[in-house]
Amino acid sequence: MKYSQVKSGTINGLNAFFIDVEVDVDPKTVIHDIDIVGLGDTAVKESKKRVKSAIKNSGYSLPFGRIIVNLAPGDLKKEGSSLDLAIAIAILSSSGVLKYRTEDWLIVGELGLDGSVRSVKGILPLLLYIKEQNSELKVVIPAVNKKEASIVDGLKVYPVENLRQLVAFMNRDLELKPLESAKIDLTVEEFDVDFSEVKGQKQAKRALEISAAGMHNVLMKGPPGSGKSMLAKRLPTILPQMTVEEAIEVTKIYSAVGLLNPDDPLIKQRPFRNPHHTASTASIIGGGNNARPGEISLAHNGVLFLDEIPEFRRDVLEALRQPLEDGQVTIARSKTVATYPARFMLVAAQNPCPCGYYGDPSGKCTCSFNDIRKYNKKISGPILDRIDIMIEVPKLEYEDYVSKVQEESSRKIRERVIKVREIQLYRFKENLWNSRMSGEQIKKHCQLTPEAEKLFKVGVKRLDLSGRAIEKTLKVARTIADLDESDSINSSHIAEAFQYRFREVEFF
Ligand SMILES: Nc1ncnc2c1ncn2[C@@H]1O[C@H](COP(=O)(O)OP(=O)(O)O)[C@@H](O)[C@H]1O
Ligand SMILES: [Mg+2]
Repeated sequence: MKYSQVKSGTINGLNAFFIDVEVDVDPKTVIHDIDIVGLGDTAVKESKKRVKSAIKNSGYSLPFGRIIVNLAPGDLKKEGSSLDLAIAIAILSSSGVLKYRTEDWLIVGELGLDGSVRSVKGILPLLLYIKEQNSELKVVIPAVNKKEASIVDGLKVYPVENLRQLVAFMNRDLELKPLESAKIDLTVEEFDVDFSEVKGQKQAKRALEISAAGMHNVLMKGPPGSGKSMLAKRLPTILPQMTVEEAIEVTKIYSAVGLLNPDDPLIKQRPFRNPHHTASTASIIGGGNNARPGEISLAHNGVLFLDEIPEFRRDVLEALRQPLEDGQVTIARSKTVATYPARFMLVAAQNPCPCGYYGDPSGKCTCSFNDIRKYNKKISGPILDRIDIMIEVPKLEYEDYVSKVQEESSRKIRERVIKVREIQLYRFKENLWNSRMSGEQIKKHCQLTPEAEKLFKVGVKRLDLSGRAIEKTLKVARTIADLDESDSINSSHIAEAFQYRFREVEFF
């Protein structure tokens, strides 16, 4: 048998594809080498080296003559390494080492030079795709990836350690049991921080509770040391648990990037991403080689915290605009286009001015009027329009700092947040948050009492709110009313929502 075929798979972005690995051997050609067609140049070279060595070091020999490996479809950009194992198997099948047909196998894995099978990225999206295709294929994966693979049920998956083991299994000289799928348990472990550690700052805590409950974007402004970073880092402790679907969505993204812990791969906690302000557009938005997902996608279903937001590069802030609106991002890179989910809650923090002390009673601010204006203007266009809740975080008062008052725990706050999450799931009958209501949904779900209506009219005129700002106020008022377990929005709900729009009337 000189011609053989086996299936493999790869991912492009989060989308999986089947790859046909075909091998043909021309024994009449004297050149004793492998030709791989359908991979990028560098990938081919590396793959060839690994496959050749792995075959030899596993005690097999390459068939004599020219070995042509074709990876179809050829125009699809493939990451070469995950195809190694399938290529090796197809070659060994051509040379007669494998006794049975290989067409009903799907094999993924990178090979080490010694024939060991190494982990690959994207096992979860790949297996979910295979399942979606109702495939009867027998799937072989690297043993290292078995916990990740066990998230998916209903497939015949065989984890393998090395090439010899796989050959013995396929030749029926060795028995392997298919992987058992794991029970999905989303119980969140304890956090090592808690809101009870934050003294005072009642208004900021209240605002973060509202943000968490409706997934509203929030901006905190205050002098250095006032606790902005401290508050933001405690946000994950009050977010409601993800649904199984949400957890799998997030885990798929981390799988594609290769960021899963092989021993505990399922991402159970809503992500909290905290990129540094020197980060590039590619690392935050996505891009670079293979159009990799960025921080905004790693924050999907969770929080993107941009600390010291005016220090971020202008192009990064500009590029956030569209994903903030759409909840997803499309990244193009040479031939590859990938769309990633990016539905996150933006939490931003900033000082009032570059030195941090503008407005401080001590008068020690050293910034010029122009410095302050430039500093604040940087976020005014792209970001401010997308912020639902703006709060000032004042310097902590000495009395609050030394106070013995027991502050409320994250657990308590979280209970209220969860209740509001349930109200939203019931209201929308889908996985939607108040912050993401459409214009239609706002009309339908934000009924104001007559008094609230009157107050709203006055406030909108006085603050000269734009259409977008009007909608934001209503969405936030909806979440405040939900926290109050009130169907209709009353004037106290509206009044509080207006408080979170102080930037509209600010001088800068
Ligand atoms: N409200 C507070 N309660 C307790 N400690 C606080 C509070 N605010 C600030 N701190 C202390 O000050 C430190 C600096 O706060 P941080 O969150 O970094 O301020 P910011 O980000 O506003 O500059 C914190 O790590 C904490 O030790
Ligand atoms: Mg800080």
